[in-house]
Amino acid sequence: MHRNLGLTYMGTPAHQPKRHVMTYEQLLTLTPDAPGLEKAAAILRGGGLVSFPTETVYGLGADARNDKAVAGIYAAKGRPSFNPLIVHLPDIPAAETYCEFNTQARQLAGAFWPGALTLVLPLKADAGVSKLVSAGLSTLAVRVPDHPVARGLLQAFGGPVAAPSANPSGRISPTTAAHVKAGLGSKIDALVDGGNCAVGLESAIVSCVGEPTLLRAGGIPIEVLEACLGQPLARVADPETPIAPGQLASHYAPKGKVRLNASYVEEGEVLLGFGPVAAELNLSPSGDLTEAAARLFACLHALDAMDATAIAVSPIPDHGLGSAINDRLRRAAAPR
Ligand code: TXA
Ligand code: MG
Repeated sequence: MHRNLGLTYMGTPAHQPKRHVMTYEQLLTLTPDAPGLEKAAAILRGGGLVSFPTETVYGLGADARNDKAVAGIYAAKGRPSFNPLIVHLPDIPAAETYCEFNTQARQLAGAFWPGALTLVLPLKADAGVSKLVSAGLSTLAVRVPDHPVARGLLQAFGGPVAAPSANPSGRISPTTAAHVKAGLGSKIDALVDGGNCAVGLESAIVSCVGEPTLLRAGGIPIEVLEACLGQPLARVADPETPIAPGQLASHYAPKGKVRLNASYVEEGEVLLGFGPVAAELNLSPSGDLTEAAARLFACLHALDAMDATAIAVSPIPDHGLGSAINDRLRRAAAPR
């Protein structure tokens, strides 16, 4: 059922930078063992771009201190330059060398790192991170990932790794090495294949600059974050003036038109189901939100591979990870 449309991405369009003169099939794919990670770290040291798995989604990594390497991320993704990047670090002390932590930031980091939480914090003046990473803001997004391959790479590299999700800008985030290859394979230097991402949704983003504020729902449920803080998270009001550009209305989009909360299927639509419904693809036949989160992007990629032009999506409960799933689906359905 999932026809491989990889051929679409073959070849090198004339506008691509010169160093990207391979097809995605020639992409250097590294194994997630010590020699593979050493090679990946060496490529990062040389200013190259390496995609690697995290527990949330695959990231596209570069040395966060190297302007040229970070610029390469924006070029490969076709990412608007105003959209800042998350810096990945091995532990809290490493993060404290780049950012100012207040009490609430310490509380959240202590509870959820390593894990699917990104903190936006005041950037220290002498942090040495490329200005392109924070897109000129006075804050920095930092995260300590909880994936043995990501952690192994951070250790082998020994520095801060800037990494957005490894997809072309505005498209679906990758949760497998094959997704990365199909989307960016001809534009990056290497990929560490670490299998499927367990969480499957990007990290939750909380700003601890002033009142703790939810910038993006994600891999840790909002209720769980609020319980840790003992207070509700402030929300950002206007999605048209995003603080985290991952809040842009149209984002995470499959190629087909998306209709949400579908209780019936119209002629020509493919159903993306949830729970016990007869559907071409089902996020979780048993109605499990964690499973649905882990499968969401893989299902959206599969719908693209099927050339689905109209997609109906079953209702998803709006609590726990369901809030983040619905957030991504609303963006997938937004007018483009
Ligand atoms: O799970 C994840 O977070 C994945 C993995 C690879 O770590 N990364 C990821 O990165 O989703 P990306 O670039 O696709 O999304 C990062 C989001 C963007 O919406 C960006 O605008 C926001 O973080 N962001 C980064 N720095 C920020 C800052 N200083 N202030 C506000 N938002 C920021
Ligand atoms: Mg992204």
